[in-house]
Amino acid sequence: MKKLVIAGGTGFLGQALARHFTRKNWEVVILTRNTQAPTLAGRLVAWDGKTLGPWVQELEKAQALVNLSGKSVDCRYHPRNRREIRESRLAPTRVLSEALQNAKAPPSVWLNAASATIYRHSLDTPMAEEDGEIGNGFSVEVCQAWEKALFEAPLPGIRRIALRTSMVLGHAKNSVYPILARIARCGLGGKLSTGEQMVSWIHVTDFVRAIEFAIEDEDLQGPLNITAPAPVRNCVFMKTLRETLGIPFGLDHYKPLLEVAAWILRTETELTLKSRFAVPAKLLQHRFVFYYPFVDEALSDLAMHRNRTASPFDPHLLELQKP
Ligand SMILES: NC(=O)c1ccc[n+]([C@@H]2O[C@H](COP(=O)([O-])OP(=O)(O)OC[C@H]3O[C@@H](n4cnc5c(N)ncnc54)[C@H](OP(=O)(O)O)[C@@H]3O)[C@@H](O)[C@H]2O)c1
Repeated sequence: MKKLVIAGGTGFLGQALARHFTRKNWEVVILTRNTQAPTLAGRLVAWDGKTLGPWVQELEKAQALVNLSGKSVDCRYHPRNRREIRESRLAPTRVLSEALQNAKAPPSVWLNAASATIYRHSLDTPMAEEDGEIGNGFSVEVCQAWEKALFEAPLPGIRRIALRTSMVLGHAKNSVYPILARIARCGLGGKLSTGEQMVSWIHVTDFVRAIEFAIEDEDLQGPLNITAPAPVRNCVFMKTLRETLGIPFGLDHYKPLLEVAAWILRTETELTLKSRFAVPAKLLQHRFVFYYPFVDEALSDLAMHRNRTASPFDPHLLELQKP
């Protein structure tokens, strides 16, 4: 039986991966700070995300390690939250690096969460891994430090991949799609600010498939954009969202009002106003095939399966989803 270790695997993306690989008969181990978490996929093993402990044994003879640890960025960026956002990413990455340096039979591949927000605000230039321009500001600095922590120590024989992931669309309660759908159903699903900013996105099914692909393709390493090949402008994204939900109209949101709303909702406008134009150049070069390359198909699928509680990897759903 193959073994996958997922650090920070109790959240949205970790559980999507855990369900998928469990169904494929992999042994899935989740490193978590809360082993009492109810009914999750995978075997929960305690760690604190900072220090070495008995959990390091789980890395021995594993095929792959995926690290998704990190405090949610959906919060106000005041000094305490900034510190937590940064430390909750750097400390787990560093301690995993240390554990791998000491392991006798470590996994041959380590995929670490990163973010497509590392690229600069771009309205008209696609950002690929090779020539994408790195931005500046707090979020970008966190991304750079995060990737440095992944790549800095020598780890011979371990392929390392930084998952520069865009907004992942799925049904999990703690993810962005259900929030956007609720806003649209309230008649508030118009464009945000000018609506000209680009939205990079990926359907959760393709996220999981891309991770599996990256584990298997031994030539893939370094930064990897995990995003659909057809990003769209925010006005197109919101219009498509409304159409797929059958909502005829949506109020636009002007920038000053968004600032006030973000303050009330304890979040940051950067999450919606930064123009993210990431494209999956490496995945396409390596011939990865997306099930959902276009936003209308991805959002239609999510709208159709509104009450889906099962994993999207149920065999009958996979049949329905074949291109
Ligand atoms: N979802 C997206 O659209 C998206 C897009 C780009 C990048 N990402 C990145 O991908 C990663 C996973 O995303 P997600 O949506 O699955 O996030 P999530 O649902 O919030 O899960 C994050 C996990 O991180 C762990 N965690 C939180 N604070 C921690 C800390 N201080 N120390 C150690 N572990 C901590 C939690 O595990 P325990 O509480 O069980 O320990 C939790 O399961 C994140 O790093 C995120 O920034 C996500």
